[in-house]
Amino acid sequence: MIKVSNLSKYFKIAKHNRGTFGAVRNLFNTEYNLVKAVDQVNFEIQAGELLGYIGPNGAGKSTTIKMLTGLLVPTSGDLLVNQLVPWKNRKRYVAEIGAVFGQRTTLWWDLPVIESLELLQHIYHVPEKRFRANFNEFREILELDAFLDTPVRSLSLGQRMRADICAALLHNPKLLFLDEPTIGLDVVAKERIRRFIRYINEERGTTVLLTTHDISDVEKLCQRVMIIDHGKLLYDGNLAALKNRFGGKRILEVDFAENYAEIPLEGAEVAERSGHKVTYHFQRGTITASALIGQLSAKYRVRDIEVRLQEIESIIRRIYEERLLE
Ligand SMILES: Nc1ncnc2c1ncn2[C@@H]1O[C@H](COP(=O)(O)OP(=O)(O)OP(=O)(O)O)[C@@H](O)[C@H]1O
Ligand SMILES: [Mg+2]
Repeated sequence: MIKVSNLSKYFKIAKHNRGTFGAVRNLFNTEYNLVKAVDQVNFEIQAGELLGYIGPNGAGKSTTIKMLTGLLVPTSGDLLVNQLVPWKNRKRYVAEIGAVFGQRTTLWWDLPVIESLELLQHIYHVPEKRFRANFNEFREILELDAFLDTPVRSLSLGQRMRADICAALLHNPKLLFLDEPTIGLDVVAKERIRRFIRYINEERGTTVLLTTHDISDVEKLCQRVMIIDHGKLLYDGNLAALKNRFGGKRILEVDFAENYAEIPLEGAEVAERSGHKVTYHFQRGTITASALIGQLSAKYRVRDIEVRLQEIESIIRRIYEERLLE
């Protein structure tokens, strides 16, 4: 459905000279800094997939989404979505896709939600019957009724996001691009948006690509995840495989029955200690959890023990920090 080959977007930023002479020099400026926002990226997305696109601030996520939605023209590379080139043949293309940019709304600030949605219906020539059917379905699942007559400017962030997602889907697009659909939302509002994303993907077969800073969005929704940093795609694959490959570290949490001065364990290191509670890290493959527990119970009196895998969040943080996949 989507095929991206060697896709790049570079931004030229004029170097700024300071001072009086600098201002004059700026007039004739030919010096640029080149920002490689997206750099030689390759991927394919099949119809029906729901995948996450993650990376730290400035990694290139929004730039990729803007190219996929046809808002930006790539510097180089190829991009086909449903056999169409997104920035050509706009009218035909926008009929096939829906897009939500969490950081800004596509609705009219001063209009009540319902009027904004009806205006979009006319702009995108959505037939009345389709509009009504979709609208009635979405208003119920997204619980829009309470604020349909409220001007968009007065909506809470969570309400605005729900209205925007509804707006993006009124014309039955096959593909939905979501750029940070849960940004700034509380836990309950996030969960509501996630439920809807899952619903639209499962019930309607809509292909969804979503960017997020919240790894739990990806953990709860996506099998596949792509990680981008400094414009380069660092990882593309299964979330479980990512855990296996980079989450070699295991965590042993021990609640001691006494306050021991020294609590070394062979094969594990103390990562954190607060009074009776100690967190050890150990490598899978170097030592087993049961060997460690054996050591513990031979040397100390223990109240409780828990073994955990490293959280996906900390694995991904490590990948950002160390760019392990280079
Ligand atoms: N219109 C533009 N002109 C110049 N530079 C740009 C432009 N748009 C993006 N950039 C630069 O491209 C890089 C990638 O930006 P992008 O918005 O794609 O990141 P992002 O992954 O979406 O980050 P965030 O998580 O903060 O939204 C950044 O260095 C950014 O400053
Ligand atoms: Mg962004």
